[in-house]
This record gives sequence, structure tokens and C-alpha cells, in this order.
Amino acid sequence: MGPKSTDLKELARLLPKAELHLHIEGTLEPELMFELAQKNRVKLPYKSTEEARRAYNFSDLQDFLNIYYNAMKSLVTETDFYDLTMAYIRRVALQGLVHAEIFFDPQAHLSRGVSFKTVVSGIHRALEDAKGRYGISSYLIMCFLRDQSAESAMDVLQEAKKYKPWIKAVGMDSKELGNPPHKFTTVFEDARNSGFLAVAHAGEEAPAEYIWEALDLLKISRIDHGYHMFEDPKLVERVAKERIPVTACPISSVGVNYFKRIEDVPIRKMLDLGIVATINSDDPAYFKGYLAENYAAVIDGLQLRKDEVVKLAKNSIEASFLPNAEKGTHIKMVDKILIENS
Ligand code: ADE
Ligand code: ZN
Repeated sequence: MGPKSTDLKELARLLPKAELHLHIEGTLEPELMFELAQKNRVKLPYKSTEEARRAYNFSDLQDFLNIYYNAMKSLVTETDFYDLTMAYIRRVALQGLVHAEIFFDPQAHLSRGVSFKTVVSGIHRALEDAKGRYGISSYLIMCFLRDQSAESAMDVLQEAKKYKPWIKAVGMDSKELGNPPHKFTTVFEDARNSGFLAVAHAGEEAPAEYIWEALDLLKISRIDHGYHMFEDPKLVERVAKERIPVTACPISSVGVNYFKRIEDVPIRKMLDLGIVATINSDDPAYFKGYLAENYAAVIDGLQLRKDEVVKLAKNSIEASFLPNAEKGTHIKMVDKILIENS
């Protein structure tokens, strides 16, 4: 008999893992949001943290995005971004996280008069401290908001170039349907020519065609969400054959009503097809689940086996942008912990 699901969830928590799909603004818990809003004299649309949490019940992606952008108004100073990032790190340090590749949305702050420097400096300083205090390594991924113009994306890219040593890659998020990747072909080309790697949210709510475009036009190294790939067997074959990693976010994909239940999230299907599938948390403060809770949800929902859980943890390391030597060290540690817990 295999291990009980409680044991498997505990093992999943212990195993070294990377988080590859995490919006730092999506880690803003209501308590910190209220604290910062009060300090910065920003008015929130809720009377209490309980009321905020009750409002986190979304009909679709846009419904979530409206609430997410509104809450960000409480983030104003460099220290606010430091505190936000450090609060996230403190939580996941207890969940076996060894490496994080973290999205941030500068355009959502620039539009409120908060500078690129304020945002990136606060996040970066916290990530440096995280390395020293908890041994957690990280890369930053700057996302373009795809519901804004290509010109606006190009402007923010010029800002990002000034902080190139701090930013590993560019990504693309926000409202997907109606904002296809081809809108940003030139922006991504400029970014890649400047040495940024590229990822993109694709096939979260839009058809498989958006994933083809993200691969062929934006030349992304990883697909964020990617659920709609299953509409197109040729695309699935390519993603598996070329080992293009997919960052699935089980709890959020149910939270925006793409899937009805966790049982419907195609994690086992991806693994069975040889796809480099990974488990991630997206916006944990809003969808109520950090990395360990996302693993626990799929372990319960899909009745995952131990070998599948181990594969997911190893995939998260393999799919990261870490140098091969560091990937090797983490994978060896996964094997060591498996032996110690067998
Ligand atoms: N921004 C934050 N979370 C997002 C998601 N899941 N999809 C698109 N944009 C986002
Ligand atoms: Zn996302």
C-alpha cells in the first residue's frame, strides 16, 4: 500500500520545491492591505479583513483582476513592497520553498504614480534578505499588462533595462481574451535582444491559438497556465516533445471558474503525456492557497501517488531558470529527503 494522503501532503511540504508562477501583488493578505492603507491614507472598498475575504469569490478572471488591482492601491512606498515580499517569503520558508521566480506588475503601480524604482527596489531588497535569512534564491519576472497598449509595454521595458541585473525575464499577464500575444511581438523581441528570458500567461482563458502565438512569436521558454492546449493535440504533442514547462495553478484555476473542481485540473493528464507540469500558487492571498496548499489540493483531488508528487517537485526545479549545477544540487536534496523519509 502507498503512503496515506496526510503523509504524502507532509512529504510534499518537506520536499525542496520551486515556485514559478507567483504574482507578488497577489500575496497581499487583507491584514497587511489594511495596515498599509491606513498608513498611506488610502480608502479601501471594505470595512474589515473579513469583508475583504468574503469578496474574494470570483465569477471569472476579469472579476478577480478588478479586485486585485483595486487592492494594490494600498502599496505606495519602497518599504511597503519590501514588507509585502518578506511576508510572502516568511510563509513559504516553512513550505520547502528553495527557489522562487516572482512576477511583478509595474504598470499597475506606475499608473498610480508609484515609480518603477520604488517597486523594484523594495521587492529586490526583500529577496536579497530572503537569500541571507532563509537560503531561498529567486529571480524576478517583470510582467507586461496585456490589456494596456504595446507602447506602454515598450515604455516599461525601457525602465526594466535600467535594472537588468535584478530582472531575469519578462512575462505577460492580465486580461487574456481579446489581448493576443501578437500585440506584443516587437516588445518581446526587444526584451529578448536585451537579454531577458520570456514567459507568458497563455491559454488560461483564451484558445490554444494564443499558446501557439506565445511560443512562435514571443518565443517564450515556459507557458503560464496553458490549460487550453488540450483543444489541440498537435500543440500538446509539441509541448511534451520540446519539454516546454507549464506552470499550472490548481487552486486559482478553480477560483476563476476555469475548472469546476480541483479533480478537473489536468495535472495527472499532463504528467502521463510527458509534459513538464509544475504546481504553483498564482495569487495565494486571493485564492487562499500558497504552494503547499496547492500541492495538498491536487494530492487530495486527484489522489496523486508518491511518484507523481516527487515528479512535480523535481519538475519545478527542472523548469526553473536556475543554472544546471544549482538544479542538480536541489534534485539531489529531493532524493536525500526521500531516502530519509522512506
Ligand atoms: N494577474 C495576476 N494573476 C493573474 C492571472 N491568474 N491571470 C492573469 N493575470 C493575472
Ligand atoms: Zn498568473
